[in-house]
Amino acid sequence: MRTQVGIVGSGPSGLLLAQILAQQGIESIIVENRSREYVEARVRAGVIEHGAVDVLTRAGVGDRLHREGLRHDGVHLQWPGERRRIDFVDACGQSVWVYGQTEITKDLINIRVSDGQQIHWEASDTAIVGADTDHPQITFVDVDGKPQTVECDYVAGCDGFHGASRPTIPESVRSVAQRVYPFAWLGILAEVAPSTDELIYAWHPDGFAMHSMRSDKVSRLYLQVAPDDDIANWSDDRIWDGLSTRMALDGWTLQSGPTLEKSITPMRSFVSSPMRWGRLFLAGDASHIVPPTGAKGLNLAIADVTKLGAALAMAIQQGKVDLIDSYSDDALRRVWQSTHFSWWMTSMLHTPPSADPDAAFLRQMQITQLDYVTSSTAAAAGLAENYTGAVLPY
Ligand code: FAD
Ligand code: PHB
Repeated sequence: MRTQVGIVGSGPSGLLLAQILAQQGIESIIVENRSREYVEARVRAGVIEHGAVDVLTRAGVGDRLHREGLRHDGVHLQWPGERRRIDFVDACGQSVWVYGQTEITKDLINIRVSDGQQIHWEASDTAIVGADTDHPQITFVDVDGKPQTVECDYVAGCDGFHGASRPTIPESVRSVAQRVYPFAWLGILAEVAPSTDELIYAWHPDGFAMHSMRSDKVSRLYLQVAPDDDIANWSDDRIWDGLSTRMALDGWTLQSGPTLEKSITPMRSFVSSPMRWGRLFLAGDASHIVPPTGAKGLNLAIADVTKLGAALAMAIQQGKVDLIDSYSDDALRRVWQSTHFSWWMTSMLHTPPSADPDAAFLRQMQITQLDYVTSSTAAAAGLAENYTGAVLPY
């Protein structure tokens, strides 16, 4: 097989890149190691920045988002006895949208399939060969067990944190900065109307809790747990008790309902740079991971491929390499901003393990920070600008 851009991974970054390229008449082939059903059902992000909504709309996948997505103009920050709202529109003139990553993925797969473009599902042994030459290839074994080779002009590594792309770049040219947090998130999807109009991020001595949503009938909630905790230790009753305790507020009740999905996700900040090696370009979680507290991972993936799509189009159609040459530095500027914000939100909201000798001090710092960020106009604007992505354009 031969294509202009070979794409490894059909998560949001690979699918959106393929769509941005297709709109400009550039061919791509996607190689994905999971099935379509698995990819469409993988529950993850829910909050999309205003700029990311514009990108999806321009890419032709904004219709359902605008119909079914929920615009949120603010967020609630909470600690025992207090729930305070930050108004994004007042603070920085922007909003975010709540629309599941599963839905974005479905919308992008549908448009690709209806355009007759290729996705090789359930590929195994994916490898990128000759990325530092002018003739890079993606090799894989297809769903029928047949070895395949895709000859490419360029390769995009969009295969997430555990994919094959990043390790293709020799360690001698890569540098990694990371932090592994001493906690994880237990997330549930529940068939119950949200008990709140906007997201609640709650600090509590037992650990952080969060109330998000997917629609007026489905809620998404999270609990801070130990990184080595097992989901088998968490019955539905224990989860709802934990959520009710940590988000308790006089006059407010958390409605519970049947749990549709539950899982535990470890939390880390990780940045591998540069995001390019020869003709291989990394995008999204393949190159960087943020803890979910800032709601930034999906937005970063969208920002990366917006830049990468424009850069590859310029190189392929006009023979100009300026944008592919600056892609890594351009993308990393936003990556580091979001990495900082996600680390800051995580540090403000998660209860340090009680074994931490500084735990009592850190807790008081957290409450003080929450009090400040919800009472100072300037501090609230800082949070709002970062949360909505108002500062760095796509
Ligand atoms: P992925 O979604 O990981 O996609 C990579 C694809 O590559 C997958 O389909 C995978 O199967 C495939 N693949 C892997 N290895 C190979 C291989 N060797 N060969 C071929 N294919 C391969 N972000 C936000 O912006 N807002 C949020 O509210 C938010 N909440 C989150 C909540 C949770 C609990 C979690 C876990 C994440 C959250 N995120 C959030 C982060 C967001 O989900 C990710 O950043 C996003 O999925 C990254 O997209 P991606 O396409 O780069 O990678
Ligand atoms: C979600 O809805 O899944 C969600 C929302 C906000 C976050 C993380 C996850 O910060």
